Formats: sequence, structure tokens, C-alpha cells
Amino acid sequence: MERDAAAVAEAWDARYREQRDGWELGRPAPPLEAFLRRHPLAPRPPGVVLVPGCGRGHEAALLADLGFSAVGVDVSGEAVRRARQLHGARHPGIRWLQRDLFDGEGLARQGLDSGSLDGVLEHTCFCAIDPAQRQAYIATAARLLRPGGWLLGLFWCHGRPGGPPWGSDPAAIAGLCRAAGLRQELWQPAEDSVPQREHEWIGLWRREALSPAVPQRA
Ligand SMILES: C[S@@+](CC[C@H](N)C(=O)[O-])C[C@H]1O[C@@H](n2cnc3c(N)ncnc32)[C@H](O)[C@@H]1O
Repeated sequence: MERDAAAVAEAWDARYREQRDGWELGRPAPPLEAFLRRHPLAPRPPGVVLVPGCGRGHEAALLADLGFSAVGVDVSGEAVRRARQLHGARHPGIRWLQRDLFDGEGLARQGLDSGSLDGVLEHTCFCAIDPAQRQAYIATAARLLRPGGWLLGLFWCHGRPGGPPWGSDPAAIAGLCRAAGLRQELWQPAEDSVPQREHEWIGLWRREALSPAVPQRA
């Protein structure tokens, strides 16, 4: 079935307007914050880092606090407006873009081109999109990364039926990343998840120099 991007955007806008936003933590996800602040494998600034489906922008603000140039992208104009309101004064350097992550041309018009990013930070966007688009989601993240660029993600691997939030399986996520040319550096159950988010996994991948996301010329 054809995907109706405008309908997707409107559905998310409505969730924000009607406060059907049970995912909202009011702060960066604790496992991501602990990893970025303290883990020996944590990527270090500087670097341009995209947060897809940034919502109210707490992870983008964390990245800015750490010294990265953060770009928050969300298909929902309501989300982007709230992110700007919450973080704009403290972090005037964060770029907030209302864009569909699957709109490659729209991203490219904003300078988000193949190989343009140092990092991508995933938090509850993967579980929010149609599961049929997961391969495209990971492939998009890989394509946007420069060789050696990183994907850090907190993935909700619950097994409940239905969604969003759609459940997932750690082996399947690892397989999608591998197929997109991402080399796994860490993939393990997360510690310190908030109580309502059991079965989260945290992972760090790096884009291979010769990634299938960008075919090499003969
Ligand atoms: C469950 S919310 C999570 C928001 C934020 N990451 C957080 O953890 O608070 C999912 C977000 O992804 C956004 N989203 C869904 N599909 C998207 C797409 N195709 N492109 C960009 N953003 C998308 C929604 O508008 C929503 O803000």
C-alpha cells in the first residue's frame, strides 16, 4: 500500500495536540544519557548528529550540551514547535527541521545528504514507524553517515502485539544494521531504563568505509 506521508504527519500532530504522548519522558532517555556521558565507547564531539523523530528534542539538547552540532528532524510540525519552545533559548544552535525521514530529497535540500553526518541518535522513532519501513529507516541512517560515522540507538524490544510502539527483536535489529553496512561495536540489554520501558536494548554501530549504502564505482 502506498504510504501517505501527509497522513502520517497529521496523525502525529494530532497525538501532540491531544496530549496522547505517553512516550514523553521529559528528559533524555537515561540509558542514552549515561552511555554518552560515561561509556568508554561513547562518541566524542565535535560532529553533526541527527536525531530522527526527535519529538520534544530532549536527546538533541543532550547532544548540544555535550558539544555536538545537533539536528532534530520530525515529521510533526507540532513536535518541532514544542522542541524549539523548550530548548531554543538555551540551545540556539540546534537545527530543528520538520521533515519526513523517508523524504530523501527534502533532507538533501537541508544539507542532509549521503555521508553528511557524523552520527545518528535513535530513540523511539524506530518503534514508531510502520515496521514495513524498518529496513528503509536503518538504510537511511547508514546512507547519511560518513564512513566511520556512528549510529547510537536505544531500541524497545518488547514483544507485545500491535503498535505504535511496535515491538522488535534484538537479532532482527542487528541483522538490519549489518545489511546496511553498519559494524556493531555494542549491542546489549540497556541498564537504567525507566520502569515503563522494559526490554530496551542499546547499540552502537559504525558505518563501514565500503558500505553497501553507497555503491563504489568500478
Ligand atoms: C514515539 S515519538 C518519540 C519522540 C522522541 N524521540 C522521544 O523519545 O520523546 C515518535 C516520533 O517520531 C516522529 N516520526 C514518526 N514518523 C516519522 C518520520 N517518517 N519521519 C520523521 N519523524 C517521524 C513522530 O512525529 C514522533 O515525534
